[in-house]
Amino acid sequence: MTKTRIAIIGTGGIAAFHVKQYLRMDDVEVVAGADIVEGKARSFLDAQGLSSARAFSSAKEMLDAVKPDAVSVCTYNSTHAECAIAALEHGCDVLLEKPMTVTLAEALALRKAEKLSGKILTIGFQPRYDARMKKVKEVIRSGDLGKIYYIQTGGGRWRGIPGGTFIEKKYAGVGALADIGCYGLDMALNAIGYPRPLTVSAVSFDYFGKNPKYSPPKDAARFSVDDFCGAFIRLEGGITLDFRMSWAMHMDTTGATIFLGTDAGLKVEPAGLGELWGGAWDGSCGNVTLFHDYLGSPTSTPIPLPEPKEDNFYLKCRSFVDAVRERLPAPIPTSEIIYNQAIIDGIIRSSESGHEVSVEFTE
Ligand SMILES: NC(=O)c1ccc[n+]([C@@H]2O[C@H](COP(=O)([O-])OP(=O)(O)OC[C@H]3O[C@@H](n4cnc5c(N)ncnc54)[C@H](O)[C@@H]3O)[C@@H](O)[C@H]2O)c1
Repeated sequence: MTKTRIAIIGTGGIAAFHVKQYLRMDDVEVVAGADIVEGKARSFLDAQGLSSARAFSSAKEMLDAVKPDAVSVCTYNSTHAECAIAALEHGCDVLLEKPMTVTLAEALALRKAEKLSGKILTIGFQPRYDARMKKVKEVIRSGDLGKIYYIQTGGGRWRGIPGGTFIEKKYAGVGALADIGCYGLDMALNAIGYPRPLTVSAVSFDYFGKNPKYSPPKDAARFSVDDFCGAFIRLEGGITLDFRMSWAMHMDTTGATIFLGTDAGLKVEPAGLGELWGGAWDGSCGNVTLFHDYLGSPTSTPIPLPEPKEDNFYLKCRSFVDAVRERLPAPIPTSEIIYNQAIIDGIIRSSESGHEVSVEFTE
């Protein structure tokens, strides 16, 4: 059996999760890693038991020298676009970590490179593979809700500001909005078939991240992204999305995710106090309930949820490898995620300008 030769770009925290999954697959070989921090790729590969894999301090040098079939791009957000474009231009299929990019312009450049290359580019939203999230989507797609006209989603953490590269604009580009907000957006938009966003009115804040009362003083001093955002988004098809995301706030949760339809409504409750968005980053959620009329009276029906049988992160990496080996379409295509990125871009523009903005772009 020919093995798929995979390389890793960016050997920080999340890269270890990718390698862990690839090591479970007997049709995959992790052949190399690259990180701009001198020596980091070597120690990473050694720590993963991959001492025969080659280490580089430049992604392009690695792509030239090793010519991998496929690449996991695990760099911080601000270098997602350049690394993924380089890999596509070197003829590699790419699994790119979320969020797709920092700016919409970068996302559009990436879409262009993807189309020119003819290669697979998929974005790493592992909650999509969760059996519970699939059930939520199944209910929505059944049509039982009638026309869906209003969605409330988001949620976030009571306290949970990360550290490292996540809190500096030069590395992360965007804070809570892009880190965990992209998941909330993906859950809601994927469930309803990713309609195009039309307008965004938004606010964002950094009251907790910059305050040494709530952040370690060293982190507070370098904090340069958002820790909370709220947005009102008009989507094609007469659907409104009311969205918020928090890394920290004086509240346990901003509530359940709700889908309101003309025939029924669906409530997805958070998995627990301080969890993300009524479906945490790993796809877990609390009760899922259908609200509808029965014999003329409003009533509610709990939706039985399946227990996940496999790790979502494994399923994300496995579906990428299956697509690479069998030349299948990207499991999580950029044709969808470009709208996720356009909303993030709209939220930033609207909160900076203080008024509603249109979401307009052509490819
Ligand atoms: N899917 C998930 O559950 C999940 C969880 C955590 C992080 N992430 C995403 O993964 C990405 C990385 O997060 P992390 O926690 O591993 O960050 P990190 O800072 O620990 O690691 C990023 C690494 O990329 C390297 N890097 C940056 N630019 C590079 C370049 N041009 N070439 C080579 N290496 C480069 C950095 O030196 C660093 O070692 C982020 O985009 C984040 O949003 C996803």
